[in-house]
Amino acid sequence: MKRIGIIGAMDIEIELLLGRIELQRKEKIAGFVFHLGKLCGKDVIITSCGVGKVNAASCTQILISKLGVDGIINTGIAGGLHEDVEVCDVVISRDVTHHDVRKKQMKNWFPHQEYFEGDRKLIEAAEKAFENSDVINSSCHLGRIVSGECFVDDTQLKEQIIEGYSPHCVEMEGSAIGHVAHINDVPFVVIRSISDKADEEASVSTKEFEKITAQNSAAVVMNMMKIL
Ligand code: ADE
Repeated sequence: MKRIGIIGAMDIEIELLLGRIELQRKEKIAGFVFHLGKLCGKDVIITSCGVGKVNAASCTQILISKLGVDGIINTGIAGGLHEDVEVCDVVISRDVTHHDVRKKQMKNWFPHQEYFEGDRKLIEAAEKAFENSDVINSSCHLGRIVSGECFVDDTQLKEQIIEGYSPHCVEMEGSAIGHVAHINDVPFVVIRSISDKADEEASVSTKEFEKITAQNSAAVVMNMMKIL
């Protein structure tokens, strides 16, 4: 991969990376600020897309069509859903999907696949990078990441999502990024660190852990640059 697009939803999710980029220039398109430069010697474009799938999809398409990236990494925080996943752990996307799109609708769009698969090379780089990273209190999991247009802070919705998709974690952008990457035939991976358990305590937990978990995920992404 020659030039990798790195997307966080919120500024806090790319802060660590922007602190390390050798910045060449910035471009503003459709309100997104794209930081072009080198990260650990690798050509990258780092940006924050804002929360939600529409922002994420739009930003991903610009990275591909206008800025010519040939690989995409989504970094950030997520709510843990799998019983093995603890706050501060890192989840790497084996695959992603929308939890708020009917399965029947997904079948109409993509008759042969319910999920968008993470790229093998990016997954392996992320797993290796995790081992070399200074992540705090964290184990690494490979699993399904699902996204939807809501912050999940309710046990009933959490249980429904688990029942429907058997995911490791939930967030609000990864499936849109995977969807757009897939239709453009561009490899992608989503990397998330767990800020909460997607239950009634989720908002409080996210406030407490968002900085450290955003940094956990970004630290893995940074180390990936030394491998790719
Ligand atoms: N991002 C972090 N925690 C989340 C949650 N519980 N639901 C959706 N997105 C999240």
